[in-house]
Amino acid sequence: MNLRDKVVYITGGSKGIGYGIAEMLLTVGMRVAISGRTAKTVKEAAERLGTEDRVIGLVSDVSKLKDEEEAVKTIMDTWGQLDAVLANAGVGHFAPIDEMSVAQWQQMIDTNLTGVFNTLKGSVEALKTSKGYYITLASLAGANFFANGAGYNATKFGVVGFTQAAMLDLRKYDIKVSTIMPGSVASHFNGNEPSEKDAWKIQPEDIGKLVIDLLKMHPRTLPSKIEVRPSRPDKK
Ligand SMILES: NC(=O)c1ccc[n+]([C@@H]2O[C@H](COP(=O)([O-])OP(=O)(O)OC[C@H]3O[C@@H](n4cnc5c(N)ncnc54)[C@H](OP(=O)(O)O)[C@@H]3O)[C@@H](O)[C@H]2O)c1
Repeated sequence: MNLRDKVVYITGGSKGIGYGIAEMLLTVGMRVAISGRTAKTVKEAAERLGTEDRVIGLVSDVSKLKDEEEAVKTIMDTWGQLDAVLANAGVGHFAPIDEMSVAQWQQMIDTNLTGVFNTLKGSVEALKTSKGYYITLASLAGANFFANGAGYNATKFGVVGFTQAAMLDLRKYDIKVSTIMPGSVASHFNGNEPSEKDAWKIQPEDIGKLVIDLLKMHPRTLPSKIEVRPSRPDKK
């Protein structure tokens, strides 16, 4: 894919990994739509990223299909095309399963799992037209379970399965589908405040560079599931 002026929609691009991906995709000349749940945060992030002709900020809660449909409609009305979608928005709550609240469970399922479906549902017709690319942000937690992770693991194992099956369904339309499964990334995830202490982690722009590599990959080749981890994990 020649990336200049191509249009990407990144859910949850107001901060963290999504924001880092947006920064990198702008450096190769793409037009970028980011989303988040609150107008102020999205507007500020979009303004930091670039000018209105290259960046738009959309208020959309991925857990609501109607929001995602509206977001894609705005992108199509603005730029007339949609070439790549990053289903990135996600939340994590970590607790022993007997202590996890129903609200925490529900928010993870609605955001991390149903949200990924809603984003695909809202964008798939536009991607058929563009023969585009749909990428989910799963996690190494989608292949490795751990104590306190039952809810989060359930959603990310689900996202990996969902994405791989969707890949089989959509490749006949020449839509590429991949899932990226990162280990620790320096973001605001789970209340983290990125700082020097996160220097050993993957940085959001590293995931952005990985996305560029995927988008530039020859049409005949599809890395459908990508595990990515810090080279030298923190010594605890
Ligand atoms: N950080 C890690 O170590 C790591 C590792 C593997 C995978 N991941 C995955 O990477 C993705 C991005 O996480 P991150 O680390 O960048 O976390 P983050 O810094 O907390 O950012 C999360 C983003 O998701 C948005 N968001 C949350 N709920 C949303 C909803 N219902 N609708 C729309 N946007 C929503 C947030 O925007 P608002 O708050 O403005 O709504 C924010 O932009 C998640 O799927 C996460 O599970 C993270």
